Amino acid sequence: MSRITLTQLRKLKSAGEKITCLTAYDASFAHLLDQSGTNILLVGDSLGMVIQGHDSTLPVTVSDMIYHCQQVHRGSEKALLIVDMPFMSYATPDIALESAARLMREGQAQMVKLEGGTWLVETVQMLTERGIPVCAHLGLTPQSVHQIGGYRVQGRTERAAKCIRDDAVALQTAGASLLILECVPGELASDITALLDIPVIGIGAGAACDGQVLVLHDMLGITPGKRPSFSKDFLQEAGSIPAAIEAFINAVKNGTFPGAAHTFE
Ligand code: KIV
Repeated sequence: MSRITLTQLRKLKSAGEKITCLTAYDASFAHLLDQSGTNILLVGDSLGMVIQGHDSTLPVTVSDMIYHCQQVHRGSEKALLIVDMPFMSYATPDIALESAARLMREGQAQMVKLEGGTWLVETVQMLTERGIPVCAHLGLTPQSVHQIGGYRVQGRTERAAKCIRDDAVALQTAGASLLILECVPGELASDITALLDIPVIGIGAGAACDGQVLVLHDMLGITPGKRPSFSKDFLQEAGSIPAAIEAFINAVKNGTFPGAAHTFE
């Protein structure tokens, strides 16, 4: 069976049907998520924290990402497979091309994701012109946690909101075919979702986005330490892992997640 394509995701956006995405790091969970009908599996560099036990995503390497992407690829057959480009693997366009080629060739990803704004325009052009689809990631970009000064909501001032809006347009124009918006006020995410032709997937960005993504361990309530306030433990109510995944998909599709309690102003 062939995997979901970007064309199909764009059709979901046009039809106003919500897109579901969860992170996956191994074959067993990838299989469960895939069978539940999750549209996108993201091999996130959050694996540095929830799998490897680091306190940030910075120590994750391209080889780590390839290793986990191969497992997720083996465990799934229908979902679009996106892999994160880890810290410093896209510091220049040439480094990005080399890293992305490895992630696609060895990891078997269908798309790569990178964090950052206008400084990535040349890189996004370079990758997409060479047949590597790109998912952009704006708002809270965890690889810049030290620069940002902590895991904080972004885009709260008018100036910061304009900057994220302009970055989103620039990255779409450069060729990005998907955007993840993390931890921004719901109203800003709503504006950007309406402004862009490409699907916008939110995490801590309110219900108006074209779809939602959560870190698997957060939505199962097994993340060590404090769960982010925008996330929800679906396992607690659902009682089993397959039921929790189904509850997440249903809640996103029918617009009940994220609610006001999971959205920033
Ligand atoms: O690494 C990751 O899991 C991510 C999501 C939080 C979007 O980038």
